[in-house]
Amino acid sequence: MARTSRIPGFFKLSVGERRRLVAEATHLDVRAFEACEGRGLDVGTSDKTVENVLGVYGLPFAATLNVRVNGEDVIAPMVIEEPSVVAAASNAARIAREGGGFTAEADPPLVAAQVQLLDVEDAGSAIERIRAREKELLAMADAAIPGLVARGGGARSIEIRRLGTPADRMIVVDTFVDCRDAMGANLVNSVAEAIGDELAVIARGRVGFRILSNLCDRRKVKVTCRVPFHALKTDEMGGADVARGMEEGSRFAELDPYRACTHNKGIMNGVDAVVIATGNDWRAVEAGAHAYAARNGRYEPLATWRREGEELVGTLEMPLALGIVGGTLRVHPTARLALEMTGCRRATDLAVVAATVGLASNLAALRALASDGIQRGHMGLHARSVAVAAGANGDQVEKVASRIIELGDITLDAARKVVAELRAADPTSVAVAE
Ligand code: MEV
Repeated sequence: MARTSRIPGFFKLSVGERRRLVAEATHLDVRAFEACEGRGLDVGTSDKTVENVLGVYGLPFAATLNVRVNGEDVIAPMVIEEPSVVAAASNAARIAREGGGFTAEADPPLVAAQVQLLDVEDAGSAIERIRAREKELLAMADAAIPGLVARGGGARSIEIRRLGTPADRMIVVDTFVDCRDAMGANLVNSVAEAIGDELAVIARGRVGFRILSNLCDRRKVKVTCRVPFHALKTDEMGGADVARGMEEGSRFAELDPYRACTHNKGIMNGVDAVVIATGNDWRAVEAGAHAYAARNGRYEPLATWRREGEELVGTLEMPLALGIVGGTLRVHPTARLALEMTGCRRATDLAVVAATVGLASNLAALRALASDGIQRGHMGLHARSVAVAAGANGDQVEKVASRIIELGDITLDAARKVVAELRAADPTSVAVAE
């Protein structure tokens, strides 16, 4: 965990200064951050990782500040191409700090190995026979994953369900595997393959698919925050009004799947960016999140917001299967650095960090939608980067950005003109970009 995740004025600093401060706060060597430039997978490793490789594709690697979860500060890594997301999450995490930050808990890392059994004549007695052999089947599963068992994980329990109508003659056997610090896909698939044939014999049927389920609803994370109304206020609106709008926006998502989808997209902006930064499988996380969102037969929001007294309380619950060993982390130096930045020692801790950034992203989006609208913040950030591209530096960035927003002309030409005007007024203050 970081010494502090509060670094005021961070966005105004140069990349080099930011690296130095994050290295200091996370107790890491600044040289690791300097070396991360262009240090994704190299082309040779890429060529051994996937097929038909042409090159290596880079994305921005950034730091989410202000995050405080379970009483500890974390600087969360994000890899994302979308402007505003990192700033919005950092700003929301700062707002959440005013209520003490986030609190979170994670389930043990259980993932189901699914074995589909077909042509099962008598599902009832097949299920009984499998239950009677549970201990033996769990031992057979553990024998397929000795490394995980040695690390304290392994197969824990078996559950069996009938699928469809009796005419389908199909049952599914879910074996729950404790994956410890691994994401677990390979381990769990090995379990499914190891016990599939024996299950078919016991069920007097035929084995079908043997594969993990990405709907890991036994591996969930729950994050909450309690934000005092005053922390939500904007230049134009009081905090209580913003809180009311955010609760109404939450209800909108609870009642309308079309809104719930966008609401959840905002959450996944934060979650995915941490998942990608730390070399985890974001497709698995996405599939699990949206399947979980639809678990009640209708697509619903993963996070909801309610006013309680003078506070707005946000709660996010979602499945999150992340690993801190193996996979991409073995070969990707920046993914390893990103993980080290978090200070997480357990996969469940990393899941907590990713979900927390997800709830922060949702807080930011709902606050903006309940007050100024989303475009204003986006435009503000866009204007700032245009100002920097036009040569503004230091405090001039804000001045140039505000002026081009005021002019309604957020272009490089307009920004250059404003920079030139400022320079004419005070020749020592601004360096004009050529
Ligand atoms: C944009 O990437 C995400 C939002 O649309 C999320 C939301 O509407 O809640 C702003």
